[in-house]
Amino acid sequence: MSFDYKVADLGLAEAGRHQLRLAEHEMPGLMAIREEYAAAQPLKGARIAGSLHMTVQTAVLIETLTALGAEVRWASCNIYSTQDEAAAAVVVGPHGSADDLQGVPVFAWKGETLPEYWWCTDQILTWPGGEGPNMILDDGGDATMLVHKGLEWEKAGQVPATTEDDSEEFGVFKELVRQTMAVDPQKWTTVAAGIKGVTEETTTGVHRLYQLAETGELLFPAINVNDAVTKSKFDNTYGCRHSLIDGLNRATDVLIGGKVAVVAGYGDVGKGCAESLRGQGARVIVTEIDPICALQAAMEGFQVARLEDVVDSADIFITTTGCYDVITADHMTKMKNKAIVANIGHFDNEIDMAGLARVPGIQKTEIKPQVHEWTFEGGSSIIVLSEGRLMNLGNATGHPSFVMSNSFSNQTIAQIELFTKTGEYDKQVYTLPKHLDEKVARLHLDALGVKLTELTKGQAEYLGVDVAGPYKPEHYRY
Ligand code: NAI
Repeated sequence: MSFDYKVADLGLAEAGRHQLRLAEHEMPGLMAIREEYAAAQPLKGARIAGSLHMTVQTAVLIETLTALGAEVRWASCNIYSTQDEAAAAVVVGPHGSADDLQGVPVFAWKGETLPEYWWCTDQILTWPGGEGPNMILDDGGDATMLVHKGLEWEKAGQVPATTEDDSEEFGVFKELVRQTMAVDPQKWTTVAAGIKGVTEETTTGVHRLYQLAETGELLFPAINVNDAVTKSKFDNTYGCRHSLIDGLNRATDVLIGGKVAVVAGYGDVGKGCAESLRGQGARVIVTEIDPICALQAAMEGFQVARLEDVVDSADIFITTTGCYDVITADHMTKMKNKAIVANIGHFDNEIDMAGLARVPGIQKTEIKPQVHEWTFEGGSSIIVLSEGRLMNLGNATGHPSFVMSNSFSNQTIAQIELFTKTGEYDKQVYTLPKHLDEKVARLHLDALGVKLTELTKGQAEYLGVDVAGPYKPEHYRY
């Protein structure tokens, strides 16, 4: 079999396959879902355009979707997050070879340029034979944005010269849309009409979806996977607790114990980051804008301060806010010599990299890929990871399999839900029902040797719940 794809090196497929095999063992939720739905093939007929970090764990997700009957095309949602061996293994497929590709078209490699990134995203929405995708699986909302902006500008007859976002990055996106419209002036009308729904992985993407729904611009139903409890309270927190430190170590190998680390934002991601830095013996300072999260941080024993007041004394700075301009160029000029600056939030605008590049006399030295030293005129320097893009995937390999099994079980269930029950959903953003959240958790208990206590009928009646769950009301916050 042959199909179009673009990855770094198919020769890495065997190495990737070994990693996938081990990952499958650590992803009991996804493997149980494969087994449960193998006969029913609920995703038969689904053509899924996937835009999510092309890692080993994502490879197991992709092969779960295809095992359930889906056809899939895949791109990464970040220029640095692809694991090239995983991408190669997915293209070759479990039973294929470099001469006989039996896998899935992947368009992703580590170190894409921005024009390449948007080209890859366009490829997942461009299916051979004229039929477009009918589902999107998104992480951060870029594939969804391409369809929405593409349709908006196609209707207007042109890509507007000036837009609210005048960044270079958005300019690259606009150029891609311009090119697609030149090739096929009806492209986005056709693609948008074919899509039944999107399932969104992360806080930032979900935020974009709610904005679209509020203004009535959302073109199709969406499931917010992020706010499944078994996603955001696990992946965002325990995942980052693992992969933040992994990224710091692989990038710099500095001893973290005894250092002063600032974590900007104490939401789900910030909580995991602060805990992991404290676990290494760092003295952690948190910055927050939300009084509730600030109080939580204080109760956990973290100092809560303003960045301005600690910027010249800390050694490590991590942004986790999903906000923009959290660390400005001015902040960076005031940092200690060799301070480390990194972002683990979804987009790179948390750290003002463009502003840093404009500091008079500044010099950038590549220490190794995704690790750069920025030297100021006076000779002092800071180390910036992954050019300000999410460092746990740029400098390391993202979250480990077990936690991603929870996230991706939710993704798979959400895809089945939207694809098979399209008519039941409006153009709004939905979360998965609690019994499915509990199911995802349940699928991961055995592997950890967890023995759950069972309610008696009487106890269940006393609590006003069913013996089989759900156990908590919707408003419960975990
Ligand atoms: P969240 O909303 O739970 O937490 C963000 C926190 O930052 C909030 O408490 C908010 O009050 C605070 N904040 C906002 N602006 C701030 C500012 N200017 N200064 C200080 N604090 C500020 O969101 P969550 O789930 O923690 O996600 C954060 C980001 O991380 C998002 O962009 C999300 O998409 C991304 N993410 C990245 C992952 C990764 O593997 N790298 C995994 C999961 C999420």
